[in-house]
Amino acid sequence: MERKICKILKNENLSGNYYFLILENNFKKIFKPGNFIHIKIGNNFLRRPFSIALFDREKIGIIYKVVGKGTDELRKKKKGEFLDILGPCGNFFPIYKNKKVCIIGGGTGIAPLIFLSKVLKKYGNDVYFFYGARDKNLIFFKLLLTGINYIFSTDNGSYGKKGNIFDVFKNFEENFQVIYGAGPEILLKKLSIYSENIPVYISVENYMACGMGLCYGCVIRIRKNNGYEYKRVCKDGPVFKASEIIWD
Ligand SMILES: Cc1cc2nc3c(=O)[nH]c(=O)nc-3n(C[C@H](O)[C@H](O)[C@H](O)COP(=O)(O)OP(=O)(O)OC[C@H]3O[C@@H](n4cnc5c(N)ncnc54)[C@H](O)[C@@H]3O)c2cc1C
Ligand code: FES
Repeated sequence: MERKICKILKNENLSGNYYFLILENNFKKIFKPGNFIHIKIGNNFLRRPFSIALFDREKIGIIYKVVGKGTDELRKKKKGEFLDILGPCGNFFPIYKNKKVCIIGGGTGIAPLIFLSKVLKKYGNDVYFFYGARDKNLIFFKLLLTGINYIFSTDNGSYGKKGNIFDVFKNFEENFQVIYGAGPEILLKKLSIYSENIPVYISVENYMACGMGLCYGCVIRIRKNNGYEYKRVCKDGPVFKASEIIWD
């Protein structure tokens, strides 16, 4: 993990309280889908974690939702200002080649999946991206990529199928070889059902404090033999095999 002071290239409103932040990439390390960055925002004692949505040699991008003090301060940052960033943090999604893969997510869970879809496509996978949102305005069309099969749902039916994205996925007649998910816990729990037959990888967004494996403030329970062990979301995750997680 490296610590860099990165210049803000863009910090734009996507819709509602969702924003797209692009930073100059000063990192030597290559970021992988599933990795997150830990951002120091203003004088807040704790850094805030955000999944990588975009990564190339010049830029690192995140999609964030304003939910509290830190993200509200982040929203006010302007192009040309600097942010103190730790990254790449955490593990990443395993990348398969030449498979029929499903990506499914909603809300800010979309962020790591956009980066993931790009890499999966590059490795010859046939990518189906199930994208759920509350409303059409919360589908970020400008961030979507070509060559991906998108399936949309909105809670109010304003775009794609009406209802939640898991129900759309459940009724979809394709046999996927791998499933990747991120987003609300209820969705991730439901996806776990499929892990009996095929690999299901999910990104978990637990509350974090140190973000570097020291405090054990972010643990989840993982199956081990006939019992369980605690794993740190920030260091051992945030990506886990759904079959291993014991949901509390
Ligand atoms: C690995 C990881 C990746 C993440 N990726 C993204 C991302 O790509 N985009 C994004 O918008 N957010 C992401 N989050 C969540 C993001 O870190 C929090 O929303 C952010 O830290 C809130 O900071 P705040 O100071 O604005 O809110 P706070 O003032 O700290 O809290 C305000 C509200 O947000 C809730 N909240 C805070 N942290 C979390 C969390 N981790 N999960 C759920 N609710 C939370 C609190 O319960 C409270 O209701 C990620 C979290 C993790 C652990
Ligand atoms: S947040 Fe401290 S160990 Fe994960």
